Amino acid sequence: MPETGAGTGRWVLVAGATGRLGRAVAMELAAEGANIVLLSRSPHVEPELKRFGGELVTVSADVSDEAQLIAARSLLLNQHIDRLDGIVNCTTGYDGRAVQVGDLDGDTYRALVDVDLVGAYLLVRTFLPMLERAEAGRVVLLSSLAGVRGRPGAAHLCAAKAGVVGLTLALAHELSGKNILVNAVAPGPLAGAGHPSGMVVTDSQDVAATVVHLVTPANRAVTGQVVALNGGRP
Ligand SMILES: NC(=O)c1ccc[n+]([C@@H]2O[C@H](COP(=O)([O-])OP(=O)(O)OC[C@H]3O[C@@H](n4cnc5c(N)ncnc54)[C@H](OP(=O)(O)O)[C@@H]3O)[C@@H](O)[C@H]2O)c1
Repeated sequence: MPETGAGTGRWVLVAGATGRLGRAVAMELAAEGANIVLLSRSPHVEPELKRFGGELVTVSADVSDEAQLIAARSLLLNQHIDRLDGIVNCTTGYDGRAVQVGDLDGDTYRALVDVDLVGAYLLVRTFLPMLERAEAGRVVLLSSLAGVRGRPGAAHLCAAKAGVVGLTLALAHELSGKNILVNAVAPGPLAGAGHPSGMVVTDSQDVAATVVHLVTPANRAVTGQVVALNGGRP
């Protein structure tokens, strides 16, 4: 397995690393010296990620497609990357549009659940053998305040993200015997995402800092928890 002088030697897979949160998480991890696997359907390495000196590897896969994930895992193994110390899932199929239940058709509902919930499961399941090779594996799944509190105009998102909470709890129980800690982070709307003025929003850096804490050895004892970043409003 490639090891870098500047890096910690830890390998973390960030799925959805080209998105807003994924980019912020990858930057924080790179700044801490981690080596990163960036996974999405069209992954690329941001130039600023390169200045930290850790290894950066891109793999392309749709998280809702198990065969593509297995192919991505094989690609890593072929590059002699056979251990993951952490997995962060920042993928989503949500387009941000409000749709009332009467207008939300079954295909749209199913498509989002397929990426945000089934995809989260397939991602962890596929890369679990690599996580089990780590001394202390960490998983962080992005849920949303929508999945904890609910909100109008997003039944598919609320259901999928509530499912991510259940998945987190189940995995935390199943994997605790393997010293793998599994948590979810549930942010409110991110600042700058075009939300109505006056709405309390969360900074993506705050979310990234929470994610990075949970996915690194700094987190020694927290598992099966959902950390809601609620903009300071309980
Ligand atoms: N933004 C918010 O206000 C907010 C609030 C609460 C929770 N969250 C959650 O936080 C996480 C990150 O949100 P974000 O705003 O950073 O999302 P984003 O900017 O829309 O980025 C989504 C990422 O997921 C990847 N992706 C989408 N579909 C995929 C698929 N089928 N397979 C693999 N990769 C896929 C995209 O890359 P490709 O197009 O290359 O695949 C991209 O990297 C999500 O789980 C989201 O639900 C976001």
